[in-house]
Amino acid sequence: MASSADYKLGEFDYPRGWFMIGDATQLGPKPQTLHFFGKDLVFYRGKSGTPYLVDAYCPHMGAHLGKNDTSYIVRDDEQVEGESIRCPFHGWRFGPDGQCNAIPYSPDFTPKAARLKTYPVIERAGIIWMWHDPQGQEPDQDLPAFATWDKEDEGWVRWIIDDFGTLSLHPIEIVDNMADFGHMGPIHGSVDNQYFDNIFDGHTLIQRFDAGHRTLTTETNETLSLDTWYEGPAILQANMLGTYPSHMLIAHTPVDDGVVQVWHALMVKIPPSTATEDPILVARQYQQASCDAFAQDVEIWANKQACFNPMQIPADGPYGKVRIWYSQFYNPRSKADAIQKRVNGQVVTFGEKRLWEASL
Ligand code: FES
Ligand SMILES: [Fe+2]
Repeated sequence: MASSADYKLGEFDYPRGWFMIGDATQLGPKPQTLHFFGKDLVFYRGKSGTPYLVDAYCPHMGAHLGKNDTSYIVRDDEQVEGESIRCPFHGWRFGPDGQCNAIPYSPDFTPKAARLKTYPVIERAGIIWMWHDPQGQEPDQDLPAFATWDKEDEGWVRWIIDDFGTLSLHPIEIVDNMADFGHMGPIHGSVDNQYFDNIFDGHTLIQRFDAGHRTLTTETNETLSLDTWYEGPAILQANMLGTYPSHMLIAHTPVDDGVVQVWHALMVKIPPSTATEDPILVARQYQQASCDAFAQDVEIWANKQACFNPMQIPADGPYGKVRIWYSQFYNPRSKADAIQKRVNGQVVTFGEKRLWEASL
């Protein structure tokens, strides 16, 4: 298992940014145990439905807040009260800020030091997202809007989540894909490459690619135009113009250092006027084709050994720059600017100019 230190990414073992932690339909109302960033965590929803994420172990005597089925507090459904969560051991209650706000057998005294660590959480586009920051600071990046989620009236069919589970792989090897022009043909069946570039812009990294594609277009001579971008270290989105316009998500979150959980999802635009079949069925089939294409990458990742230094040839995309860009999230905020300045700009790997603009 290759760690962040093995890749010489920077001062931290885990990156700063927004990360997917699960499919919103599968999280809550019962408190649930999660494990990310090498930490045991507990996810719960307040009575309002608002999601919260806290460290799993109680500051009183170390009980696990999420792993309990037998305590009467749990059996009597008294673990979540309002927006607070109670420990199943002695019933200490913690508010959404993590502060202990009630102890059943101590009506007049709650210690100030009794505090659970909490993490910023947002529910958006059917997904629960958390902010992780090794320096413990508030977000300095916005969670992407995933605007197509709210465009059902324009024919967008919302995604369902494909969970690829955990891989013994450092996430840097997933991010490498942004520069990976050479795998498009052999892995994905791209034909007639037309254009491939990358744009590095602060905490955003873009890839633009035009080519024919064997599975995501109906005619072999049809061009698949792809705009793919990372906002932060772990959220990849792509706008694809193939048989249908679609909006892809690939999200990956460190579980432990060198182990990552991976998800895929796809929203597809099928305007009601053009649909002869059930649009949801068509969208699901199209999502499956995209999921199958992504599974081609995942099979490589699941079986490869770590690559600390890609043997980059002139025809390859800019792996080195991608890795420098990615290292900004493993270093203090104060260093991010200098790292970005080393890579900001455009690198054209193939072609002269784009023939298509993948605007949705
Ligand atoms: S260990 Fe949690 S209340 Fe005592
Ligand atoms: Fe790929």
